[in-house]
Amino acid sequence: ASKKIAVLVGSLRKDSYTRRVAHSLIESAPEGLELTIVELRDLPLYNEDDETDPPPSTFAAFRDAIRQADGILFCTPEYNRSVPGALKNAIDVGSRPYGKAAFADKPCAIVSVSPGALGGFGANHHLRQMLPFLNMPTMPAPEAYVGGVAGKYEGDRLVDESSRAFFQKFMAAFGAWVEQHAK
Ligand code: FNR
Repeated sequence: ASKKIAVLVGSLRKDSYTRRVAHSLIESAPEGLELTIVELRDLPLYNEDDETDPPPSTFAAFRDAIRQADGILFCTPEYNRSVPGALKNAIDVGSRPYGKAAFADKPCAIVSVSPGALGGFGANHHLRQMLPFLNMPTMPAPEAYVGGVAGKYEGDRLVDESSRAFFQKFMAAFGAWVEQHAK
C-alpha cells in the first residue's frame, strides 16, 4: 500500500524557495509515496490554555492531518540559525496534549534550504534536537542542506540537474526509511 507523507514547509512566504524545493521533492518521489503539503499558516500561536477552553478548530485539523500520515517531511528555511517560529509553533501544536502527540512515532526526514552557502545547517540540526524528543525516527542520511538555492530555480522551475538527481536519491532513501519505520 502507498504511504501518506505530510510535507511541512517552514516558510509562509508566497514566493518561498523552500516551498519550491518541497514541490521538487514531491516530483522526485518514488512510486508508493503520496505527498501532501499540510499548511501551517492558519495555526494560532500555541497556548496551553486552549487545551481546556475548546481548542481552536485549526489545532484539531492540523493534528488530524499529521495523525493520518505515515511519515513527515520537514522542509525548512533558516531564520537566525534556527527554524522559523511558524514551524516551531506547528511542532508544538502537534506535540500536545501530553502523551497524545500527533507526531509521535512518525518517521521523518529533514531538508533545509537557504540562498546562503551553509544550506540552513542550523535549522536542520535544531530540528534534529526536537524530533527525537517526540520519538520520531529521523532519517540520519542522506542529509539535505540545499544551499545557494536562488541559483537553482528559474521561477518555479528547477534548473539544476545535480539537485534533481540528489532529490531523487534523497526521496528514494526516505521512502525506504518510512517503509522500515512506519507503525
Ligand atoms: C533569514 N535568512 C537567513 N538565511 C540563512 O541562511 N540563515 C539565517 O540564519 C537566516 N536568518 C534569517 C532570519 C529572518 C528573520 C529572515 C526573514 C531571513 C534569509 C533566508 O534564508 C531567506 O529569506 C530565504 O529566502 C527564506 O526562505 P524562503 O522564504 O525563500 O523559503
